[in-house]
Amino acid sequence: MVKPKIYVTRKLPSERAMKLLFEYCDVDLNEESRPPTKEELIEHVKDKDGLLCLLTDKIDKDVLDAAPKLKVISTYSVGYDHIDVEEATKRGIYVTYTPGVLTDAVADHTWALLLAVARRLVEADQCVRQGCWKIAWAPDFMLGTDVYGKTLGIIGLGRIGTAVARRAKGFNMRILYYDKERKLDVEKELGVEFRSLDEVLKESDFVVISVVLTKETYHMIGERELRLMKPTAYLINIARGAIVDTNALVKALEEGWIAGAALDVFEEEPLPKDHPLTKFKNVILTPHIASATTETRARMADLAVDNLLSVLKGEMPKHLVNPEVTKIRPLSEVKMIE
Ligand code: GLV
Repeated sequence: MVKPKIYVTRKLPSERAMKLLFEYCDVDLNEESRPPTKEELIEHVKDKDGLLCLLTDKIDKDVLDAAPKLKVISTYSVGYDHIDVEEATKRGIYVTYTPGVLTDAVADHTWALLLAVARRLVEADQCVRQGCWKIAWAPDFMLGTDVYGKTLGIIGLGRIGTAVARRAKGFNMRILYYDKERKLDVEKELGVEFRSLDEVLKESDFVVISVVLTKETYHMIGERELRLMKPTAYLINIARGAIVDTNALVKALEEGWIAGAALDVFEEEPLPKDHPLTKFKNVILTPHIASATTETRARMADLAVDNLLSVLKGEMPKHLVNPEVTKIRPLSEVKMIE
């Protein structure tokens, strides 16, 4: 049997994963540390059976049209909003992703952001380094806000939202959530309370966005929603930038509708250095690194490769985005590896 040809859009940080790829496949690897351009993507997928991509690679109709042999797209991410899944499914292309293995790292980062913005950690660190710490201790110096015992609102109680809620138990928080469906098992386990989106926004001291980006959630948090939040509340986004209308958020911060924000994701990534969001002291910005731990990124690499190889072996992958594809092209028809 000939080895399947695959395009890998970036080197992955797991020796095991890279070794397996080269063992089973004829690998075309983008050796650059930057994502391929759209033209490069189109050029490289032409003759490929498989694609292992990142969230920075937009896999749209043009890319799919250029890849008539493609059988599987494995993304090295839990989000798959960069892939036109509907078009892929029509073409009988299996789409896989990497949920689960990054849940705890992302929930930890969410909490790092929440605590940092509440206790002005970045500002405080800069103050010490820049010599603005002039008086040893003062009653009203660098006051932040309490976290313990406050109300946390979670928008999207999936794997990550639930892991964020679990950590909030240790902070004795009242936990509200909004999701398009009720999560009775989590309500029972963690005592989280279901509310409408508006109620979550109105009642929470910290609002965490952990919902997937879809047509329905695009700009779900805009001017109206931000105005519902308390002026003492903070917004934390670790999902996708486009869930929040950035211009509305800038206005909310300028006009003090909310107390601050902590963001790991942006509508435009990388966020330009002089973006209006960088001007606020009460905003913490991290460069889309919520899953960025050595252990987590290695686990994601292993899973992304296992998913890709499973499909090419004609086996059901662990995490398939589009199970309906099996009716269009059964696994037996994409099998290339014995
Ligand atoms: C990160 O944002 C991911 O989708 O894995």
